[in-house]
Amino acid sequence: MMEVIESVKEMQRRAEALRLAGHTLSLVPTMGFLHEGHLELMRVAKKHSDILIISIFVNPTQFGPTEDFQQYPRDPEGDLKKAGEVGVDIVFMPTAGQMYPPGSQTKVRVEKVTQHLCGLSRPGHFEGVTTVVAKLFNITKPHIAVFGQKDYQQLTVISRMVMDLDMDIEIIGVPTVREPDGLAMSSRNSYLTPEQRRSALCLKESLELAEKMVMEGERNCAVVKQAIEALIRSRPFTRIDYVSLCHPVTLEEVDAFGEETLLALAVKVGETRLIDNTLIRRPGK
Ligand code: PAJ
Repeated sequence: MMEVIESVKEMQRRAEALRLAGHTLSLVPTMGFLHEGHLELMRVAKKHSDILIISIFVNPTQFGPTEDFQQYPRDPEGDLKKAGEVGVDIVFMPTAGQMYPPGSQTKVRVEKVTQHLCGLSRPGHFEGVTTVVAKLFNITKPHIAVFGQKDYQQLTVISRMVMDLDMDIEIIGVPTVREPDGLAMSSRNSYLTPEQRRSALCLKESLELAEKMVMEGERNCAVVKQAIEALIRSRPFTRIDYVSLCHPVTLEEVDAFGEETLLALAVKVGETRLIDNTLIRRPGK
């Protein structure tokens, strides 16, 4: 039977007991409104452990003052049903009061890799993410934690935090799960009107366009960036937040395609901010 735990102390006691009994624990942190992308992370986590814990917590500290914290979609009942079907053992579902009691004042900040991409357009976002993920690690005590490559920078930032703070946790990244037409799955896709949903395909199409241009010999990042910007601008309701070609580890912008280059995009479609990315490999000589 799947257990649902709301209290921090109870979750810590349970995790400690499971560890002492010799189990391997995995954690998949989420903000709920679960979709196939989240479920895939859980399947991968299950393969690497014998106790699968997920957390469902819409973390207020990673949303900016003008962002969608209040509107963020929530469906606790549907989430518990899906979690049960994938074979989750424990759902940790705290209240905001449990996670941020009055007086809390400690934050975890990763410095350089947060100064690019989403870190620039969402000040404070990654500090909110690393702080809550560090707390979730201390509460659920996993051996393994699984994150999606859809949020490539988040995965990079968390891997960096784990290394820098000597957290004894293995981080696993899982490829992006997409809708049949290529749109990356996201809880925020539920905000899109049917017309906006069609425009949203320009993110995936941008990734394909760049891959094709590099495959055909283009090496100049500015040229590829211009082509992508033109494609996105040709679609209704879109506003580019960033189109970045950068180093896959440091996330610093590059001018020419190296062996591996990360293409990362953030586009507002109507009021909905969507992201996508791909690692582009330069074809062998
Ligand atoms: P959330 O957006 O709910 O995502 C939870 C996890 O699911 C993240 O690791 C994310 O990268 C992954 N994910 C989302 N869509 C995916 C897709 N289409 N394919 C594969 N993986 C996907 O990311 C967060 O929540 C929060 O920032 C969190 C880490 C929980 C901290 O609050």
